[in-house]
Amino acid sequence: MIGRTQQTKDFTGKTPSTNIRKHERSKLQNWNDLFFAQRYCRLVMSLEEQYRRQYQWRDWKNVLDRCPIVSGSRILDLGCAVGDISEEILRRGAHEVVGVDGNASLLEIARSKCLEGLTLIESDLNTLEMLDKQSFDGIWCSFTIAYFTPASKASEILQYWKTFLKPTGWICLVEMSDLLNHDPMSQEHHEVIENFYEDAYEGGRYDFKAGGKLRSLLQESGFNVIEDLILKDDELSGTGPVSSDVVVAWQQRFRRMGKLQDMFSSKDLYEQFVQSFLLSLQSLDHISHCVVHALLASSS
Ligand SMILES: C[S@@+](CC[C@H](N)C(=O)[O-])C[C@H]1O[C@@H](n2cnc3c(N)ncnc32)[C@H](O)[C@@H]1O
Repeated sequence: MIGRTQQTKDFTGKTPSTNIRKHERSKLQNWNDLFFAQRYCRLVMSLEEQYRRQYQWRDWKNVLDRCPIVSGSRILDLGCAVGDISEEILRRGAHEVVGVDGNASLLEIARSKCLEGLTLIESDLNTLEMLDKQSFDGIWCSFTIAYFTPASKASEILQYWKTFLKPTGWICLVEMSDLLNHDPMSQEHHEVIENFYEDAYEGGRYDFKAGGKLRSLLQESGFNVIEDLILKDDELSGTGPVSSDVVVAWQQRFRRMGKLQDMFSSKDLYEQFVQSFLLSLQSLDHISHCVVHALLASSS
């Protein structure tokens, strides 16, 4: 742990005192935690470690408890990444989980778990010809539908995925809305974030508001919504200062967000944004306006 009096340079290369206004400083719950987080972030965290940490912050139990994972069932995990949820679905009694993802490195991590009953397929989720139609009891798809934009594309893909479900099948979608909308934050930064959302949506890359559209997307695609939940999430939503581990996760996320950096005219300005975002997370009056939605629907 690094003391307040040490002249430690943060990731911007400046001493912390040059970056942080006095009144903001007083709001920090645990100043040392933030410095620890910033130093720690310089280490490259493996993808596996990042996913392992994220897993514990999500309220998976709440949503998985409502999914009818009956013994012997076959479940499709779309956008399975490192296979954490596939593993939990198998643990809950599924006979087979077929995990599909387009990212070979993430699938490699999933494969290294050597789970009995887990079949992993590297594929684009738009083209699942290798799978038999009407052969799955359930579809799980978490934090992946937002990649299908605009909303008409998301609706189309849901109709396509539905063809792989048995007539009595179910689907569970988990998605967030408004990831970067946190306070306290300057009006200028709020505007950059709105522009960034719009750019991602118009460019067909990502819908940052997808979570709030799940109900209408499912209904348009011919599903019947059974459950509509808001999930507690220690990383993405809630109020008050977050833990130092969560600060680290956010900093890792910002490293991956090259398109967000492109919204700033210089690297320094982006770093200032990141710095103030991390401070906001640690502030006593921190509020996340991000909402994590989970919807369960039946195919008939
Ligand atoms: C944010 S991660 C979510 C991973 C996991 N479901 C979870 O909840 O932690 C989204 C995953 O979807 C995958 N993905 C997104 N679009 C895809 C596509 N068109 N084809 C295949 N995989 C895709 C990504 O590779 C990534 O692993």
